Amino acid sequence: MTSLRIGIAGLGTVGAGVVRLLQDNAELIALRAGMPIQVVAISARDRGLDRGVSLAGMRWHADALALADDPQVDVVVELIGGAEGVGRALVERSIAAGKPVVTANKALLAVHGTMLAQAAEASGVGLGFEAAVAGGIPVIKALREGLAGNRISRVAGILNGTCNYILTVMRDEGKDFAEVLADAQALGYAEADPTFDVDGIDAAHKLAILAALAFGRRVDFAAVHVEGIRRINALDISFADELGYRIKLLGIAEETPAGVEMRVHPAMVPKAALLASVDGVFNAVLAQGDFVGQVFLQGRGAGAGPTASAVVADLIDIARGTKIPVWGAAGAQLGSGPAVPISRHHGAYFLRLMVVDQPGVLADVTAILRDHGVSLASMLQHGRKPSEAVPIVLVTHETEEAAIDKAIARIAKLEAVLEPPALIRIEPS
Ligand SMILES: NC(=O)c1ccc[n+]([C@@H]2O[C@H](COP(=O)([O-])OP(=O)(O)OC[C@H]3O[C@@H](n4cnc5c(N)ncnc54)[C@H](OP(=O)(O)O)[C@@H]3O)[C@@H](O)[C@H]2O)c1
Repeated sequence: MTSLRIGIAGLGTVGAGVVRLLQDNAELIALRAGMPIQVVAISARDRGLDRGVSLAGMRWHADALALADDPQVDVVVELIGGAEGVGRALVERSIAAGKPVVTANKALLAVHGTMLAQAAEASGVGLGFEAAVAGGIPVIKALREGLAGNRISRVAGILNGTCNYILTVMRDEGKDFAEVLADAQALGYAEADPTFDVDGIDAAHKLAILAALAFGRRVDFAAVHVEGIRRINALDISFADELGYRIKLLGIAEETPAGVEMRVHPAMVPKAALLASVDGVFNAVLAQGDFVGQVFLQGRGAGAGPTASAVVADLIDIARGTKIPVWGAAGAQLGSGPAVPISRHHGAYFLRLMVVDQPGVLADVTAILRDHGVSLASMLQHGRKPSEAVPIVLVTHETEEAAIDKAIARIAKLEAVLEPPALIRIEPS
């Protein structure tokens, strides 16, 4: 082979970024790959759209699936997106045609990753997805290759830049979620339909992928507990600050005595923790290995440049002939036990109640917590305006989530409690 000939489907943010990177750094990429990497064919929806990069000499396919059948294409790069539809069909068809695939599609890997890996194994082709998690941070390689000798006990990450940006601005400017989301949309940091980001789904796709790699399990998106950031408000952010915490949307995969936990939710992290200082659109991943100890990776999790950087790393691997099992071990060896349900999570909790400040309320609340075996580490109360709603904040010691859920259900029914209580899990790091 004198050059690696690639076909790219999708010329949006990432696709155009990949074309630009391959053009701008062509020489050093050829040096590292051992051969030039050449884009010979492309596909997108709108042929007339200016992509801001030169597409000269690249064959246009109106049907993206034709890239899989194009005899001039050695490797297919899928940058359309979506767990179903054309993106999925193209990946399946390319693998079936014996062509290695590189994709940035976390939804596809999270939902169909086991099946696709089996197909790639059967066809003897690679399936690269470094760009699917945390954009430019080489976290797939880190877990699958760099840390391959370690037993990983925990992976925690800030995996969605949009959420991290929103939470950072809420904290810095004391604003509420809806206002900051609207500003982020106007600035292009959040999509017009922000559901995938702010409801935690995007982070959960990525976490499912990291958990599979970290624990040698089949990827299992459906088993991830998912909560987003819509319910986080300025009041809780300011209480968190007072108590020495930052609120972050974390994805956490953890080996516990009961089994593997996979969860995405807002969490209070001590200010001194590494993840607490990751602000704005940055992503970060903290992994704990038995021999290596803690490994902390931080960088840009999205955008044309960082994502293209990861896609091109996978292409260079293919050009070099590197062969690594998709999930770090042969498909048949991957574990598939059930994940631990969130109700069995053990941790400390931040609980905020809005109450009418009248005698006996606190005694009622603490009595209910005691009934369910929940003990308190600290308490905060501000402002005492008779007959007006005042916040009471309680921080618990470690307890099982089922216990605190039962306690909250009873607390919510107290006459003096005016709104559904706010509950945020506290993470040690
Ligand atoms: N953006 C990021 O920072 C980022 C980071 C990490 C991973 N990713 C992943 O990368 C993938 C691409 O994301 P993106 O942000 O680049 O998306 P995007 O800007 O919306 O681009 C999507 C591209 O797919 C093309 N497309 C859509 N339907 C198609 C079809 N049926 N046939 C052929 N082409 C089709 C579109 O064509 P037209 O342009 O003609 O409409 C567009 O060029 C997704 O899986 C995403 O999750 C993105």
